[in-house]
Amino acid sequence: MKPISFFSAVVFTFLLSLFSLNSFAQVPAKAASCFGCHGVNGNSVMPNTPSLAGQNSRYIYLQLRDFQEGRRDNAMMTPMTAGLSRDDMRELADYFSKQSLTSKSFKADPEKAKKGMAKADETLCAMCHLGEFKGQNEIPKVAGQNYDYIIKSLKDF
Ligand code: HEC
Ligand code: HEC
Repeated sequence: MKPISFFSAVVFTFLLSLFSLNSFAQVPAKAASCFGCHGVNGNSVMPNTPSLAGQNSRYIYLQLRDFQEGRRDNAMMTPMTAGLSRDDMRELADYFSKQSLTSKSFKADPEKAKKGMAKADETLCAMCHLGEFKGQNEIPKVAGQNYDYIIKSLKDF
C-alpha cells in the first residue's frame, strides 16, 4: 500500500468510527462546545466537572437556566450559558440525557460504601433521588457521577 492511500484509509476509518460510535452527525452544534470540559458526549474526565451523559433532561435544563439567571454561579460554567436560548437549553438537555454514561474505573472502598449506604438510608436520600440514586425529573442522578464533584457539591450545599 502506498503511504498516501494508507493515510486516507486511516483517516476514513477514524471518521467512520466517530459517526458509527457516537452518531456524531446528530450532535447539536452547541453541544460540541461543552465537550472541552464535560468530555465527549458528556462523559467527563475532569474530577471537578460533572458528567452530563445520562443525567435527567429536566435537571440539566433547570441548571442551565439557574446558571444563566444567577441562582447558581460558577466561574467556568456561568459564562457558557450567556448566549443560550430556552430552546438551546432544552435541545442540549435532551441530547446529553440520551447519551450513555460510561462506567468509571473508580473502585469504592467497600467499608466506606457500606457506611455511606447506611447514612443514605438513615437520611432518606432515596425519598427524592430514588433507589440507587438514579434521580427523577428535576432531581439529579448521582450514580456514576465523578467522586470529587459529588464531594464538592455536597460541601457547596
Ligand atoms: C470551561 C469549562 C466548561 C464548559 C465549556 C462547560 N461547562 Fe458545564 N460545568 C463546568 C463546571 C466546572 C461545572 C460544575 C460547576 C459547580 O461546581 O457548581 C459545570 C456544571 C454544569 C451543569 C450542572 C451539572 C450538575 O450535575 O449539577 C450543567 C447542566 C452543565 N455544566 C452544562 C453545560 C453545557 C450544556 C455546556 C455547553 C453549552 C457546558 N456545561 C460547558 C464547566 C464547563
Ligand atoms: C427532599 C429531596 C431530596 C433529598 C431527601 C435529598 N436530595 Fe439531593 N438533591 C435534591 C435536589 C432537588 C437537588 C438539585 C438541587 C438543585 O437544583 O441545585 C439535589 C442535588 C444533589 C446533589 C448534587 C448533584 C449534582 O449533579 O450537582 C447531590 C450530590 C445530592 N443531591 C446528594 C444527596 C444525598 C447524598 C442525599 C441524602 C443525604 C440527598 N441528596 C437527599 C433533592 C434531594
